Parts: sequence; structure tokens; C-alpha cells
Amino acid sequence: MTEVTTLDVPDHVTDDLRAYAAAMRAGFHESPMSEEGLAIWLAHLQADGTRLRVIRDHSRPFGKADEPVATFASWGGTLNAGRGMVDANFITDVTVQATHRRRGLMNKLMLHDLREAHERGDVVALLTATDAQIYGRFGFGVTATARRLEIDSGPKFALRTEPYGSTAFAAPDDVVDVRRHLFECFHREQFWSVGRAQHYWSTGFDWHEQRATPHRAAVHLDDDGEPDAAVVFAIESDHILVRDLLGTTRAAEVELIRLLAHAEGHEKIVWRHCFDPRHPITWALKDPRIVTTAKTFDTVWTRILDLPRAVAARSFDRDGEVAVNIDDPLGYAAGTWRLSIRDGVASAEPTSGEPELGMDIATFSTVLSGLEHVDTLASAGLVHGDPSVVGSASRLLTSWEPPVAASIF
Ligand SMILES: CC(C)(COP(=O)(O)OP(=O)(O)OC[C@H]1O[C@@H](n2cnc3c(N)ncnc32)[C@H](O)[C@@H]1OP(=O)(O)O)[C@@H](O)C(=O)NCCC(=O)NCCS
Repeated sequence: MTEVTTLDVPDHVTDDLRAYAAAMRAGFHESPMSEEGLAIWLAHLQADGTRLRVIRDHSRPFGKADEPVATFASWGGTLNAGRGMVDANFITDVTVQATHRRRGLMNKLMLHDLREAHERGDVVALLTATDAQIYGRFGFGVTATARRLEIDSGPKFALRTEPYGSTAFAAPDDVVDVRRHLFECFHREQFWSVGRAQHYWSTGFDWHEQRATPHRAAVHLDDDGEPDAAVVFAIESDHILVRDLLGTTRAAEVELIRLLAHAEGHEKIVWRHCFDPRHPITWALKDPRIVTTAKTFDTVWTRILDLPRAVAARSFDRDGEVAVNIDDPLGYAAGTWRLSIRDGVASAEPTSGEPELGMDIATFSTVLSGLEHVDTLASAGLVHGDPSVVGSASRLLTSWEPPVAASIF
């Protein structure tokens, strides 16, 4: 019953694909996929090169013997670690049917997929989690966050900044190439940016409702007429819902918020995923209190599979050395490593010397991403070491640029 099977993504909707979709949607307590949803999803799987993994229980009654009791998907992409891209294994669709939970099926799928990723030479595995308590045990640590912002677009809305360039409304389908280009530019430049899956580029389908929904789009063009930001949004009853807003500069994104605020007939703009924790929108408003953070949440979790390559690809702002003991139950990064940084370039060598700091691999992922300081994590009981070393390691391993990952998957 616990055999992991990897399905080939077919060129048309097959019974196996339907059964996977049904099990995955049921696992998330979602309604079944519509025919339209299945066709769009298949196109996404093909474009992403997704590996679909299942476990079946052939003893299941009522005609369900060949349907999966557990689903798991992954595909290959990249993470920008600061000094370059590293190969990343993106994970999603982790579900086990309620009848089969707590028997180790997720554990089996995860270990299988991580082992393959490690053998392929992927440097990290990435996922976004619906529950914060599931993935730490596999070595995943939080490495990026997002906020849901609500901006009062009534009479108090006024920006300090002067408008520049121009804006244009467009049908979402007509700006897919522009959005992809903007994302590629962003991904190339942004520390801890992770690649986007295909679903970001097909708009106008509501996955929850399983039907087409009208979306709109707008683009900002700089003073030379080059697109530098794009937004996809929906008009809801009393607000504008920003589904995706991304530019090559944050100033260009502010210009698109200006455009949406000036549209009539709504009371607020709801930006569901503001990925940059230092986004200037609040500072750019004459009345910063018209922005409310409705919630802050973790987005990308990272699992380091190859510690020396992850460290070597990460950019650092200071030079120095520290010996860190890493606790990794899966073994990929376990041991004591001497991290040496010279001219911003780091190396990690195994050492038999005494460690100065100790932490698990999930915590090390958070540290490497620059999301949190070592001393904060030490105060939280996640890093162990002499306070003076904790302090110097905090300064050594911090990043002036926060991790910004513009992707949920
Ligand atoms: C989360 C889910 C996939 C777990 O599947 P499962 O097969 O029951 O998990 P396993 O039996 O392999 O459990 C592995 C470990 O994770 C723990 N675990 C499982 N689900 C957990 C949860 N929701 N919260 C905390 N720990 C959890 C188990 O206790 C076990 O720990 P152990 O190794 O220390 O004994 C399943 O509950 C599910 O499908 N939930 C609904 C969909 C969902 O939320 N998916 C996650 C999407 S990000």
C-alpha cells in the first residue's frame, strides 16, 4: 500500500489525471475540478514539467481501489541566492485522504521526493505551507513572508511622490508576455526570489470556484515608454482586489496603486500578496495610516539539500568566520561546518573543530535567507551558542536586502 508511483504527465486528460485531481482537491476539502479547470491544470503541468506522485491503496472499497490516497507534486526551478541562481525543487499538492492520515504516507512521499532532488543535484527544495507545523521536521524553514494590505482609496488617498511615465489598461491575456518579462527581470535581480509556476501566467480562472472570472490588467510605462510594472486585479463589491502586482522597481508599483486608487466606485484596494516587507507604499502616502496590514504570513519555506553550494551562492555583506553545528535528521547537511566569508564570497567546509553555534537545518535555512537575525533566533531557543558569538554571527550572516519571493505555489 505504501509504494510511491510517479505518473507521467499525459498529453490529454486521462483517468489517472482525473483521479489525481479528485484526490488532491478532496485532500484540501475543495470541490472537484471542472472540465475547464482540468484542461488548464494539464497545460500548467506540461509547461512546468511537473512530477505527479501518488500512493494507492488497492484494498479500498466502492470502486476506489485504483484512486490515490495520497498526492504530491514537484518540479524544477530556480532560487536567486544573491550571487547566482541555484537549482530548486518546488513542492506542492501534499495531501493524504482523511481515511489514511497519520500512517506515514506524507512522510514516505516527502522522503522519496527529497531523495530524488538530492540525487539530481538540486541545492534546495521549496514549498509554501497551509499549516506551519508540518514541514519543520523535514528541515524546511521559513525564508520569505508576505502581507495582505488594505489601502483606503477614499478622499484621504494622496501620494507624496510625483507621477512619472504613463499607465494603460489592458486585457490580461494581452499583457502575459510583459508580465513574464517583468518577472524575469525581478527574479534576476532580487535576493531570495524564487521562480514562478505556470499558473501565474494564465489569469481569469478562479481555482476555488472552478470557473472563469473576469480579471483586468494595467501596465505602467517608464518615461521612455518601457513597461516597468503590471497589475492584474478584480473588481469586487466594495473594493479592488490586487491579484498580482509586480514591477522592476517598487516606485513603478506605487504608480499602479495610484492608478487603481483613482478608479471610481470603490472604498479600498486589497493587495492580497505584498511580497516585499520593505515596500515603500506606506512611506509614499501622505497619510500612512490609510494602509492596514490585515495579516502577515509565511510564504516560501526552504530546505537546504546541498549546504556548501547554498552557502557559496549566497551573497554576504561582511567578511568573517564561524563554525556552526547543523542538526539534520535527514543527514544531507548534518555536521559541523566552518563558514568563511572573504570579499563577500563564502565557503562551507566540514570541520572536526569545536562548533561555536548550533542550530537545526530548518533554522539555518531561515538564517541563510536573511529573513531573521541569529540573535533573534537564539532568543527564541532555536540557536545555541555563547552570546558574544551569537552577536557577531548575527552581524556576519545578516543580509541588508530582505528576502523577497514573489510566488505562492
Ligand atoms: C498534512 C497531511 C498531508 C499529513 O499527511 P499524513 O500522511 O497524515 O502525515 P504522516 O502520517 O506522514 O505524518 C508525518 C509526520 O508529520 C506529522 N503531522 C502530520 N500532519 C500534521 C499536522 N497537520 N500538523 C502537525 N504535524 C503533522 C505527524 O505527526 C508525523 O510526525 P512524526 O514523524 O513525528 O510521527 C494530511 O494531514 C493532509 O492531507 N492534510 C490536509 C491537506 C494539507 O493541509 N496539506 C498540506 C498542504 S501544505
